[in-house]
Amino acid sequence: MNRDYENFISLIKGKTGIDLSLYKEAQMKRRLTSLFQKKGYESFQEFYEQLNKDHTLLEEFLDRMTINVTEFYRNRSRWDVLENKIFPRLLAENQSLKIWSSASSTGEEPYTISMVLSRFVPLRQISILATDIDDRALEGAKRGIYAERSLAEIPSDKKKKYFVKDGSVYKISDEIKKTVNFKRFNLLSDHFGTGYHLIVCRNVLIYFTEEAKSILYHKFSQALAPGGVLFVGSTEQIFNCQQYGLEAEDTFFYKKISNT
Ligand SMILES: C[S@@+](CC[C@H](N)C(=O)[O-])C[C@H]1O[C@@H](n2cnc3c(N)ncnc32)[C@H](O)[C@@H]1O
Repeated sequence: MNRDYENFISLIKGKTGIDLSLYKEAQMKRRLTSLFQKKGYESFQEFYEQLNKDHTLLEEFLDRMTINVTEFYRNRSRWDVLENKIFPRLLAENQSLKIWSSASSTGEEPYTISMVLSRFVPLRQISILATDIDDRALEGAKRGIYAERSLAEIPSDKKKKYFVKDGSVYKISDEIKKTVNFKRFNLLSDHFGTGYHLIVCRNVLIYFTEEAKSILYHKFSQALAPGGVLFVGSTEQIFNCQQYGLEAEDTFFYKKISNT
């Protein structure tokens, strides 16, 4: 790692609490270098000096480092497995479910969980914790207004039932909104809760170093209730999941079987 980037990492950690050293280096460096070069800066040092003074530039930096791409029912076939296999088992074993969407971006993922669960549980009884490191994404999630492309994978009955079209955008219904509680949370430094029956962590671990990932798998496993499930993204298979006390229940779904 070069000195300039190393120094930037420690300045950013001091300013924002975000530890860039736990993100894959080449990828993160490339993304940030293209941003500062576009702005006309020549080094990470110069970039930091500016973003330390300019809040808009800091926001742009945060925007660039947190990739917010998401959509409702992302990788649709996995949500069918959640609906037809995972939820029926969890609901047979538990009276109510404690659920956490742990990198929820602009809300499509936790709202999808509610829509899927609504087949089994009345919406007023559903309560999902949704967290993300990015305040702007969380604000968008709470607004619940989406472009058409975010809705491409939604089953048409759900789209009809839970969205109102307003010009070129779609507004999600209040009854779905009320099922989700959004909070800022840094997966790499904040304290995990316990007793979750379902933790969804999709398409964020890919940005972290192997070491950070392994620590997080342990923490997720500890946060799960016995029989609880960790649902990961469709490129994020966990190798050697037994070492974390997990067992594959289906592709990309890991069930907690023991403490580690
Ligand atoms: C590509 S999105 C994934 C959204 C959703 N889970 C999905 O699969 O569609 C990645 C999200 O991870 C969040 N993120 C990045 N680093 C994080 C961290 N250290 N703690 C919590 N969230 C983080 C970003 O802000 C972004 O919203």
